[in-house]
Amino acid sequence: MVAMKRPIILHPDPRLKKAAAAVDDLSDARRALANDMLETMYDAPGIGLAAPQIGILERLIVLDCEKGDDATPRPVIMFNPEVVALSDDMNTYEEGCLSIPEQFADVTRPAEVTVSWLDQDGNPQQEDFEGLWATCVQHEIDHLDGKLFIDYLRPLKRQMITRKMIKLKRELAREKV
Ligand code: NI
Repeated sequence: MVAMKRPIILHPDPRLKKAAAAVDDLSDARRALANDMLETMYDAPGIGLAAPQIGILERLIVLDCEKGDDATPRPVIMFNPEVVALSDDMNTYEEGCLSIPEQFADVTRPAEVTVSWLDQDGNPQQEDFEGLWATCVQHEIDHLDGKLFIDYLRPLKRQMITRKMIKLKRELAREKV
């Protein structure tokens, strides 16, 4: 089966503000969807993508935070991911989002997280993440609850980014005509 790139929804969009539903049946269609999401993420390029970002309000994320030319790719597919433990240590990363292109800001989150999920075969998995992986998995799980990284910023900064995005979407819409 050939993976297909899907269009990524840009902020602001009501679909990015909604909570996604748990996945209770790992059908072939959902596995294909996960592969499409990986294809879309690598093509962007990005290190994580959540199903609501392509308009599917289901609890599914994909990520690969192995960066650099020498890094071995590690595509991870998570159905129903859940943070089961957080460290007291915090970490600050400059975050971005494929739904908010060209905009970046520092976000502080727990430095280590334990996440449980179902893999593409429906097997339960659990793993501790740190560094960029920890930040990324929290960012993606936030998407499933309708939360964006800009929601962590001060209102003024958030509004500035949203205004830029409205302008960008207007320009993109004009290009399509
Ligand atoms: Ni994002």
